Amino acid sequence: MTMHMRRPQSKSEPYALTEAILPAPRIPGADEVIVTASADMVFDRLAGDMVAQAKECVREFGDFHLALSGGRTPEPLYERLMYDPNYRQLPWRRTHLWLVDERMVGFDDPKSNFRMIHETIVQHADIPPEQVHPIKATVENADVEYEKELREQLMWREKGQDRLDFALLGLGADGHTASLFPYSEAIHEDARLVRVNRGGQTPPPGRITMTLPLINAARFIAVLACGMSKQEPIARLIEDRETIEALPIKGVRPLSGELHYYLDAEAAGAV
Ligand code: 6PG
Repeated sequence: MTMHMRRPQSKSEPYALTEAILPAPRIPGADEVIVTASADMVFDRLAGDMVAQAKECVREFGDFHLALSGGRTPEPLYERLMYDPNYRQLPWRRTHLWLVDERMVGFDDPKSNFRMIHETIVQHADIPPEQVHPIKATVENADVEYEKELREQLMWREKGQDRLDFALLGLGADGHTASLFPYSEAIHEDARLVRVNRGGQTPPPGRITMTLPLINAARFIAVLACGMSKQEPIARLIEDRETIEALPIKGVRPLSGELHYYLDAEAAGAV
């Protein structure tokens, strides 16, 4: 693998060593698949795209609705968003921060997605508290309440723009995304925006998850997958032979938005 020199776009721009972009496989339905040599490089790329989308949405609508996933993979990306001056320009004061999914545990539980997002982002960003939207997963009707909160916030947008601006999804080794696990009921949800999910191959604890109709309505969907454990589901996705029930990530197909995959070499099978 070689590092590439990028030609400067103008005389004032110096030659820079850019991220080593590797040849990318074709993933059905994806507008772009980025493969970089290391996870760190792919975080860079994703963070840059997130900041660009955020600025554009704030310019156009006055705010930015961002939905983040939990899991281990994005943690260093979230840290990066806070300490890297290139990404500190994300307009947090105009951002609404949502969760793609949550485990049915309290915020003090190490398994809580919000706990991780709070520690990595919320504590360090100048985001107004009323624009932070954790899923209160242990209260009764948490899914109904979260859907209500989403609708109330998004209704300020004009029709057609009342959707998430950016959804960051992860990928499980079994092909799940959000908390839409293989052969679980929530995969088939076609009306609700948020719901409880249990059953199928869903490991306990139960989950509250955004559904495919909400995710697929987003303006920009980013799927982040890094490491060897993601190689198999990515290969299955590329093969395109399985059903959405068996491989839920296949259900992610934006209606009128963009779908971008961000993979490191291991996940892409390029090692
Ligand atoms: C969660 C997530 C989930 C996650 C994948 C990948 O609550 O766990 O939101 O969908 O993105 O399970 O998790 P890792 O990044 O830990 O592999």
